[in-house]
Amino acid sequence: MIIRSIKFLLMISFIFSLSAFNTQAQEVSYRTHIKPLFDAKCVFCHGKDAAPEYYAFKEEKDKWMSKGQGMRMDTYSHLIFYTAWPDTGSLMRRLDDGKNTKDGKPGNMYQHLGSTEDERQKNLKIFKEWVGNWTLKRWQEITKEDMNGIKVKY
Ligand code: HEC
Repeated sequence: MIIRSIKFLLMISFIFSLSAFNTQAQEVSYRTHIKPLFDAKCVFCHGKDAAPEYYAFKEEKDKWMSKGQGMRMDTYSHLIFYTAWPDTGSLMRRLDDGKNTKDGKPGNMYQHLGSTEDERQKNLKIFKEWVGNWTLKRWQEITKEDMNGIKVKY
């Protein structure tokens, strides 16, 4: 009888550990959350027809702008370039809704997050959870602690 109830308890705790595992799997990651969102809202101007690198865009900014294209951000490696380093805080400054910006205005990419305010807020939340520490600081001002908080899970 005792053995049986021990077995039962073990089974219950096993099931609980599985569900804890599941919640962890729900953590916002690039592959499950950000990539589909990016492909729906951003890839049109930041995909394979855009400047291959940030520096290539800067060298010929007018050319790319006249095509309505920005710089590529359609892979994990390209996108994280705009989070912690080297273009520190860029993604956060551009996507912020104005609550954290110096002038209180939304970043100029915020509008692309959705066609309604509800949708924009919902998608901003996903980006925020993915980044972790939503800092708008540039490389010169960012601290080691701020950097540690940037998660951008693959
Ligand atoms: C209609 C085209 C278009 C769409 C859609 C678009 N962008 Fe952009 N984006 C641009 C262009 C062009 C630039 C470069 C000019 C500028 O700095 O505003 C840019 C610049 C940026 C930058 C700044 C890079 C830097 O540091 O100079 C970031 C970050 C960015 N976009 C992120 C996004 C994200 C994320 C989305 C989707 C939510 C998005 N963009 C949607 C056209 C677009």
